[in-house]
Amino acid sequence: MRIAVLGSGGREHALCWKFAQSSQVEKVFAVPGNGGTENNIPIDPCDFKALKIFVEKENIGLIFVGPEQPLAEGIVDYFRNQPLRVFGPDRQAAQLESSKLFAKQFMKKYGVATADFWQPANRAEAEEIIKKTKGQVVLKYDGLAAGKGVYVCSHQEEARMALHNLYDSFGAEAPLYFEERFYGQEISLIGFTDGQDIKMLLPAQDHKAAFDGDKGPNTGGMGAYCPVPFCTPEMLAEIDREIVQPTLSGLQAEKFDYHGVIYFGVIQTESGPHLLEYNVRFGDPETEVLLPMLKSDLLDLTLAALENNLSGFKIEFNLGYAVDVVMAAAGYPGVYPKGMEISGLEKINANQMVFQAGTSRRDGRVVSSGGRVLNVVGHGSTLQEAIYETYAAVSGIRFDDAFFRRDIGRKGLPDE
Ligand code: GLY
Repeated sequence: MRIAVLGSGGREHALCWKFAQSSQVEKVFAVPGNGGTENNIPIDPCDFKALKIFVEKENIGLIFVGPEQPLAEGIVDYFRNQPLRVFGPDRQAAQLESSKLFAKQFMKKYGVATADFWQPANRAEAEEIIKKTKGQVVLKYDGLAAGKGVYVCSHQEEARMALHNLYDSFGAEAPLYFEERFYGQEISLIGFTDGQDIKMLLPAQDHKAAFDGDKGPNTGGMGAYCPVPFCTPEMLAEIDREIVQPTLSGLQAEKFDYHGVIYFGVIQTESGPHLLEYNVRFGDPETEVLLPMLKSDLLDLTLAALENNLSGFKIEFNLGYAVDVVMAAAGYPGVYPKGMEISGLEKINANQMVFQAGTSRRDGRVVSSGGRVLNVVGHGSTLQEAIYETYAAVSGIRFDDAFFRRDIGRKGLPDE
């Protein structure tokens, strides 16, 4: 089969790498891909007309969608009556990610464990909510916000300032809501579903803050590891009962066409697990550790989901742990330089890998072209060993103004 992977990040490099290992795969294209992927096709993943011409010309049998945007814009609906398959939910189901309010209403309707939320009709009602909750809320704007739509607040003044900022950015009619704030460890749980059954991958943990100790601004993710040692079988069983199964019931009750990846962003609190968010795609940087730990063939798993055969699919994992450290350009997630030449990519051993993200090729050299530049991945039989392998690889790779967190995976180690 000939496959097109849509997207250009580290997640998509990892997807292309894993698909290429399948004996049934003849060729993998990356659309548009990056400096690390092969067979790059310079088409915007949301330009469905251009994609259609490309997939017909290249006889593509499967489109695997990396980012959410093409799903939110209806790529599954667009190709519905075509011979090729597109892996992902249709536009309606993709609202589980594209509309935070839609997702919240879905969670409440189907009894998914999640925080309470309140939708103020006006500024006066918003003020009442801030008082009632003592400002311990998460304030969210329900729309595309380029990273400026979520404020995590600890007290009333902070919540008032967040409200002021949201109204300032998006207007007095801005659709927004408050959510009860929870404290605890966050876990990413990602599964393949056909809408009836689900096969979960290993639990992973992302590191969203820019700097060590979870300090600094929120980013797309500075690193990840899996599996997560403190995720016990009992904890996973509770997440399944309280979050995953009610979600599947909801997908069925709503008759959603959902053959794709579903991501549960879970927070483990003193009162049990709660769902923070759905994503309708693989996480990034979680994918860069999940796929190296997946022993099963990725195409077999994808086809099992597309053909409603997941219940009989035996999913297998590699032993040990994987850790991913993101090497970013100084200034990210704000303004950062581009075009830095990257060296040392070849200095890796059998326990190490590099998935490229914000890179491109220029005259045979790899140069940076984005904020998150590389995902350096290490494998080990213990988490400690995997951390060691990862940072050993990072130390051999160079580009000007590189920065990375030095504590990826530490939350999974026993307290010292
Ligand atoms: N790692 C979080 C995300 O992909 O949204």
